[in-house]
Amino acid sequence: MALSAPFSPLPNVRISNHNVMPVQIIVGAQWGDEGKGKIVDHLSEDVDIVARYQGGANAGHTVIIPGKRGENARQFVLHLIPSGIFHKHVTCVIGNGVVLDPVALMTEIDALTKAGIKIHGRLLISHNAHLIMPYHKALDSIREKGSQKIGTTGRGIGPAYIDKYMRTGIRVVDLLDRDILCTKLKQNIQEKNELLKQIYHSEELDVDAIISEYQEFDKTIDEYVTDTSKYLNESLAKKKMILAEGAQGALLDVDHGTYPYVTSSSPTSGGACTGLGIPPTEINSIVGVVKAYSTRVGNGPFPTELNDKTGETLRSVGGEFGATTGRPRRCGWLDFVSLRYSVQVNGIQKIAITKLDVLDDFDEISVCTNYELRGKKISNFPTDAGTLEAVRPVYKTFKGWKSKTSGVRRYNDLPAAAKKYIESIGQLLQTNIWMVSVGPRRDQTLLRR
Ligand code: GDP
Ligand code: IMO
Ligand code: MG
Repeated sequence: MALSAPFSPLPNVRISNHNVMPVQIIVGAQWGDEGKGKIVDHLSEDVDIVARYQGGANAGHTVIIPGKRGENARQFVLHLIPSGIFHKHVTCVIGNGVVLDPVALMTEIDALTKAGIKIHGRLLISHNAHLIMPYHKALDSIREKGSQKIGTTGRGIGPAYIDKYMRTGIRVVDLLDRDILCTKLKQNIQEKNELLKQIYHSEELDVDAIISEYQEFDKTIDEYVTDTSKYLNESLAKKKMILAEGAQGALLDVDHGTYPYVTSSSPTSGGACTGLGIPPTEINSIVGVVKAYSTRVGNGPFPTELNDKTGETLRSVGGEFGATTGRPRRCGWLDFVSLRYSVQVNGIQKIAITKLDVLDDFDEISVCTNYELRGKKISNFPTDAGTLEAVRPVYKTFKGWKSKTSGVRRYNDLPAAAKKYIESIGQLLQTNIWMVSVGPRRDQTLLRR
């Protein structure tokens, strides 16, 4: 098999043998909820493995699968299990970068199993993934009662990543040794109880109850636990194709997002390598999922937010209510300043536009091409929350297409004004538009060749 490049650009760097893409990363290009679940499910047909690389049960990825023999289509909202699970040939991996909530995981496994989806033998969980503990959730919700609210999902994400980087976290592998688990849990709970009592004047946690709960969990999780980095690298050597599924979105990235109104992990494409333990040299395709307008859940700057009837229409037509918390999503027009930044930071090569159909009835559709800050035009995205709060969006307006697109099955059959809108997105971002989604179902996906 010929190497994919004629020479190695760096000594000792392994070059992939694949003629086809070995690892494709799917990232949300905005503030999450772009429709990643739908796109990952669609792309899963052509891959062997789908792997989640960061975040936890704060994610809510919606997938609709067609009903069998005249049955109705079924909708699933996945929080931890990768969105490839509905394709029988796909193995799903929860990588080391994920923070795993045992309660959420077991609930999800049970629900899928009851729905007839086989999980046994198809789900692998990294032994290095950190566990979300009851005290992480307690601390998350207590902190949110303070003055500087992030508007978190309350799933314990921030506190779990704090412990990971503090090097006191409890990992899946710790469940396998009862003594280690007890020692680590006792140390952690003692510390957290101090914090709860002294600082937050809150109720203390019961060490024994938590130990027995997590030991129970060990029995159920055991069959899924493995060294997933080794598995993924061995799979790459066997020329298997991997789809790395990002959760949240680039603008919620702890380093590159609108800090401090972000999540505590790295949803950007860079996070896929550390979150899965695969080398950057294996990545050869990065797909950005872009909703045809913008939404945001939780607090933080949102320059194109529409606090008016148009915003309400986007919310009601788009069904913009959180898949995890049910909170109404804040809605607004597409923002090219943030999108150009997202394309750059992620290295997005191809775009999947979702929810085009939600714009079907608008007379006019606006997009923000630049910001103005204190009377000056700016085209770069300020990630500093204070500056971003102060910018004023400058809009360009497109004519609406005023016709139903959800039944369209070929890109060329879209109304001319819709194609103009889509192609302008490609031009403004200087990136290929690869797919257009016109509804939540699998068959409502158009390829743009
Ligand atoms: P994710 O977190 O990025 O996976 O997105 P969510 O599942 O949280 O939110 C996306 C919502 O939009 C879900 O309810 C999807 O079923 C729905 N959806 C996805 N693509 C489309 C589309 O093209 N059109 C419409 N109308 N709905 C879509
Ligand atoms: P998916 O994968 C949208 C937001 C929260 C909050 C901030 C921090 O479905 O796109 P956290 O609980 O992570 O500490 O909350 O991030 N947030 C999301 N917003 N989609 C998500 O996931 C999100 N996960 C977290 O609303 O503003
Ligand atoms: Mg979501």
